[in-house]
Parts: sequence; C-alpha cells; structure tokens
Amino acid sequence: MGLSRQLENPVEKLRKSLVSPKSGFGQNTLEKSFFWNNYISASGENSFTREGFCACEKAFAEHKQNISRLILALAPDNIAILGAGYLNDIPLADLLEAGRTVYLMDWQEQAPKVGVSRLLLRKDQQNNYNCLFCKMSTGAEFCRNFTGEFKSEGVCTAFEPLQDPFVTCKHYEPAVEPKFVKADITGGVAGSFAAKIEKQIKSCKTAKDAFIKAIACTENYHYSPIPIEDDSMDLVTSSMILSQFDFEPYTYFSTLLEQHFTREELIKHESKLIPLMEKLRTRLFTLQAETHVRETHRIVKKDGKARVYLSAELFRSYPGTDNFFLVQDMSIALQTLDKYFYFKFDECLGGKALSKSELGQGVSINQCYCLVPKALTGCK
Ligand SMILES: C[S@@+](CC[C@H](N)C(=O)[O-])C[C@H]1O[C@@H](n2cnc3c(N)ncnc32)[C@H](O)[C@@H]1O
Repeated sequence: MGLSRQLENPVEKLRKSLVSPKSGFGQNTLEKSFFWNNYISASGENSFTREGFCACEKAFAEHKQNISRLILALAPDNIAILGAGYLNDIPLADLLEAGRTVYLMDWQEQAPKVGVSRLLLRKDQQNNYNCLFCKMSTGAEFCRNFTGEFKSEGVCTAFEPLQDPFVTCKHYEPAVEPKFVKADITGGVAGSFAAKIEKQIKSCKTAKDAFIKAIACTENYHYSPIPIEDDSMDLVTSSMILSQFDFEPYTYFSTLLEQHFTREELIKHESKLIPLMEKLRTRLFTLQAETHVRETHRIVKKDGKARVYLSAELFRSYPGTDNFFLVQDMSIALQTLDKYFYFKFDECLGGKALSKSELGQGVSINQCYCLVPKALTGCK
C-alpha cells in the first residue's frame, strides 16, 4: 500500500521516504546489481509469506465480492486484471469459464502464478480435494500436467498435494489460460524512469543532483502500451493499484540513493531534499495515474456495456486515532478518472462506494467504482 507522505513530520518523512522502506532487503539483494528488473522480481519473492497472504486477503475481501458481482452481471468474454499481484482481491473461480479470455497482468512475473496456484484447491464436504482446473472441460489449457484421467472425482492422476507455504498441487504448471502477462501497466512510465535513473545516478556527485536528475527523468518516457488491443475488453479491473504509484518506482530510486550516498549525508541535507522529494513523488504519481487511466480507457470496449472496476485508498487514519487524511495526490487521480470515464454507483458495488480495510498500521477507507468509458477521440 502507498506510504502516505502526510503521515510523518517532515524529518521523519524524509528519513523514511528518502531511505527505502525495503532497505533490509535492498542491502542483501541489490549490492550486486542496480537493475530495476532484479529489484522487481526480488521484491515479489520477499512478500511471499502465509501471513502476508492472509492479511491482504482479508483487507481486499470486499473488492473480491464486488468483482464477483460484476462478472455475474456482465458475463464478460474478455477480462483484463491489471496489477493482478497475488490475486487477493480476484475471484478466480468466477473468472474461469471455457472460451473466456482472461489476462492476469503484473510486472512481477511470478506473483499471479503464485496467486493462481494458491487458489487452485478446495475441499468438498467429504474432505476431498477439488482442483479448479481439473474440473474444467478444457483442463489441459489451464495446466500443462493435466492428464485427462481422474484419480478421484475432483483431481486428475497427476495430482499430489503440497502444504507449504500454502496448499496447492505440486504438479500445477501454468498453460495457456489464464494468460499471464508481464507488463508495466503505467504504459512504460515506471519502467522508463527506473531505466534512466539507474544509469544517470552513477554520475551524480550529490543527493541533490540525483533528485534533480530524477525529476528530469520524469519529463519524457518511452511509451510501451499494455499489450492488449484497443476496445477489446468487456471488463477491466484496477483494484488497489493507484495507491501503489505513490510507492514505486520512487522506492526503487530511494534504494539507489542509499547505495550511492550515506544515510548521514541524506539526513544532513534534508531541508533541501524534502521539497525535491515531494516534487519527484508527485510527478511520478501523477504521470503514472494519467497513463494507467488512459491505457485502461484504451483497452475497454466502448459499447455502453463494458465496465472498469476501480478501487484505491482514498483516506487513511493517523495511527492510533480515528482522524483520517486524504491520501496525497488522490484528488489529481480522481480528476484524471473523470476525464476518461463516467462513474457508476450501481448494484455491483453492493450499495457501497466506500469500504474500510486494515492493513499495516491504521485504517484505510477505499473508494470503489464502476467506470464507463467516455467516447473520446485522439487521447492515445
Ligand atoms: C496492492 S497489489 C493489488 C492487489 C493484488 N490484486 C493482490 O492481490 O496482490 C498491486 C499490484 O500491482 C502491481 N503493480 C504496481 N505497479 C505496477 C506497474 N507499473 N505495472 C505492473 N504491475 C504493477 C504490483 O506488482 C502488485 O502486484
């Protein structure tokens, strides 16, 4: 979830945000390499704990229900799940249907595969395992090791249970469905920034220089579209993604900072660095939100029926109090959404456009919308 910049006083804010929240991990993994791709895949491996899964699953349960209701109402043929992650908020069983095309997209290649694997098995009333994919009429399209012959009613002869770190089938191997796609859902903004700054930071003499270069790196980017055709999706989800744009790729930059400059130096110059940090984070957030929303608009059908499900953190509580603040820059993200979409507050949301969740310290109030694309021209 996005670390809110308003949570801390300026000094704490700088210390926490200048210096990567993942610094423990960064020191282990990044000393040898300064590349974004390694960073992204290592960060996926690090969040791979049973407790982490459970906490996220509970926090995201409401979105899962909303998306379920939408699938039922729309009966979509083509679905894109943007930022699928570990599928904590994705009702996998409802998505699966022979002939339906489902894209699970994330820049962490392994996360959606782990997510699917984790949701594969259920136990019936007799305590027997049932595998979602073995039960499909086209099981071989979903698992390479599906044999087509059954060990028991719910699992094929290849089935072997695995208990750790979560219950799954040892022989599940992704096949052609659902479609796992490794892609940057900000249309290249995040990836471009990371690629440029990891080269340019090497020639920076001071941390201030690094910030100035980083801000300049946001001025243009190499557009790499989400690999899905225009006007082709009946349902697109962007669930708990916007808040991530405040977090990455800024955290990657702060990890690089830590490797090039000492913590003492960063703290010593904090009064000069804080405004630069604010400027950089706002630029990165705004640009990513704009391209993500524009890409989402591009891929969804403009037939009046297709929908986008969007959820994001809107307010967050000050730790230990029941006072909430507006998540920084969320007003900009809302204006961007309004530019491309109409907001719908219909039954699919279970009557609630705001939902509450607890993850980490404090409480989040999340906004949930169904969006209908406006008919715009020339907005690619
Ligand atoms: C908070 S999770 C969303 C919830 C997710 N369905 C889950 O259950 O984990 C955000 C996901 O978005 C992905 N993400 C963030 N920025 C991205 C980007 N620019 N391109 C692709 N994926 C991105 C992260 O890797 C992460 O898996």
